[in-house]
Amino acid sequence: MSEMTANSLEDKFQAAPIVPLIEADDPGVAVHTAKALQAGGLDVVEVVLRTDAALDCMEAIVKEAYGIIVGAGTVLTVDQAEQVLSRGVQFVVSPGLVDSVARYCLDRSTPMFAGTMTAGEVQRAYALGLRTVKFFPAKLAGGVPMLKALSSVFREMRFMPTGGVSAKNLSEFLAVPSVIACGGSWLTPKGSIEAGDYNAITKLAIEAVALAKAARP
Ligand code: 3PG
Repeated sequence: MSEMTANSLEDKFQAAPIVPLIEADDPGVAVHTAKALQAGGLDVVEVVLRTDAALDCMEAIVKEAYGIIVGAGTVLTVDQAEQVLSRGVQFVVSPGLVDSVARYCLDRSTPMFAGTMTAGEVQRAYALGLRTVKFFPAKLAGGVPMLKALSSVFREMRFMPTGGVSAKNLSEFLAVPSVIACGGSWLTPKGSIEAGDYNAITKLAIEAVALAKAARP
């Protein structure tokens, strides 16, 4: 099942290499947001563990939004990794690299994206057995030039730049061959969600998919 998940993530990233972040206080809102993204062509989402309702939000999307792959973001500890997996999420994202969390996911063949921003961190991730990492915070950590430098050394490693990615620089990041997908919150603006303007989210998703297609024809 986990290998299948990894493969289906790959398939989804071939179609649209973008992972929108969802931060929600309410499972109903989370499901609406995920469906609005899906309507725009994005069906991999990362729900961040930054609200009290985050676990319920993940579970609600897993159960109610058919065809969407749900990952958990901001997973800091093994306990949290255990909790999110018990809610049915299919991949794990962390802002940094903690060996115990990486090992927990690797042992279960759960796709995981640990945050890295230096050669030392990428090397540690590599030594642990990870072959995909998050590059975070992508813009502040040196953006595309840094990503290219890391990619030239770690030739088997693939990166998910997140943090400061937006419609303005998405194409530049996706032009780097080692980039598996880009993550970010620009697709789910708080103002639109608070106003219940889910069409705005669908429009942002459509725009991002078009940018991705142009960057990777
Ligand atoms: C994350 O959790 O990965 C970052 O907070 C996302 O950064 P962004 O808000 O700049 O997209």
